[in-house]
Amino acid sequence: MTSSEQTGILKVAYIGAGRVNFGGAAGGPWDHSKRLEQLGGVEFVAIVDPLVEKVRDVLEKKMAGAYAHLYTNCKVLTDYRELLSMGDNKPDAALVGVPPFCHASYKNDIELQLVKAGVHVFVEKPISVQPPEEIQPYVKEVSRTAKEQGVIMSVGYMFRYHDAINKMKEIITEHGRPLMNIDMAYNCAYVSSTRAYIWNIHESGGPIIEQATHFCDLLRYFGGEVDYSQLTSLVVPASDDPTNPGYLSSLSPLLKEGDIPQSSRSPRLTHAQWKFKTGTVGSLTHSYSIHGEKYITNIEIWADGLRMKLENLYYPECRLKIRRGYTDEEQEFVFPTADPYHGEVEVFLKAVRDKDSNIIRSSYEDAFKTYQLTWAIRRTGTGT
Ligand SMILES: NC(=O)c1ccc[n+]([C@@H]2O[C@H](COP(=O)([O-])OP(=O)(O)OC[C@H]3O[C@@H](n4cnc5c(N)ncnc54)[C@H](O)[C@@H]3O)[C@@H](O)[C@H]2O)c1
Repeated sequence: MTSSEQTGILKVAYIGAGRVNFGGAAGGPWDHSKRLEQLGGVEFVAIVDPLVEKVRDVLEKKMAGAYAHLYTNCKVLTDYRELLSMGDNKPDAALVGVPPFCHASYKNDIELQLVKAGVHVFVEKPISVQPPEEIQPYVKEVSRTAKEQGVIMSVGYMFRYHDAINKMKEIITEHGRPLMNIDMAYNCAYVSSTRAYIWNIHESGGPIIEQATHFCDLLRYFGGEVDYSQLTSLVVPASDDPTNPGYLSSLSPLLKEGDIPQSSRSPRLTHAQWKFKTGTVGSLTHSYSIHGEKYITNIEIWADGLRMKLENLYYPECRLKIRRGYTDEEQEFVFPTADPYHGEVEVFLKAVRDKDSNIIRSSYEDAFKTYQLTWAIRRTGTGT
């Protein structure tokens, strides 16, 4: 019996001391550490990041906060391999929140080393930035090893744990009719998007692989597997010409987009459509278009006798409108307290404790299928 099994306290390590694990000055709803602290039943044994000062800074803040006792034995490490020689303090579980080009390959084999050592893994989306066919052998080996070792793997597609998405799933099941159309739009407020690598598709993967991946994942969550022979996509490419639709008037000068080769610049708009194997039509629009801070998102699902429209999924004012059956009236649902980030880590910890991978809604293998869809959209739209 391990010490965690004796005490019931899970030992958790963070890989990456950045925004998704610890929140960020620029805000955003993400911060896995906050949710884990509130959930309890855990202690933090290490934070791994080559930027030692950044980790020290994170730890200093944690030691001054209400959950300092959870960090008493927390080590500052610079390499994930060090986690595996921590003896009794080896983590039971690790949360991997590093840029996608820093993991998911035989060179940067964070997932593989963890699962080989019997450590449960929660890894952020996107699972990589390399072409899917290049990482497929790695993904297969990680998935097979995780099964052999009996460890849980979960990927951070948090919207699968959102109350509004649960409600839509429930209504589809109740309604009992196949879906005709699933249409999603993800419009990013781009002015404050100042991380340079996001704007270079050869570093971030591009807007579909990096951002709209959340909606590609939901499209699959509702629609199932994609018939790739029917997929097409169109883009509005970047342009420096103010008379062109691809010109963005308010890009931060800090990004120095002019230094990025034209063929590597992020498209301003991507529109893709396809059929699922069931015959349902799927479509996705992503744009860098609006100013201000808030993104504008929209999800519509249609079936015989049913229309669902979900707006503002990222925000507490998220609203679901439903028209179904023999009426022109709409029902409206709101979800002011929904916290999908809480849901995804809560379910991950429960799966680890109960050794039950069936409750994980985004497995590593399934997330790879979403990853394949995002690449297919990028390739048909941009040719690269
Ligand atoms: N699900 C969501 O809503 C959501 C939100 C934000 C970020 N993310 C994802 O989380 C991942 C991380 O994003 P972020 O915003 O936290 O990035 P970030 O740049 O804020 O932090 C990443 C950290 O990882 C560290 N790092 C790099 N290589 C490492 C390695 N080998 N070992 C340990 N640490 C390493 C970096 O030094 C950096 O401190 C990305 O894939 C991103 O897409 C998801």
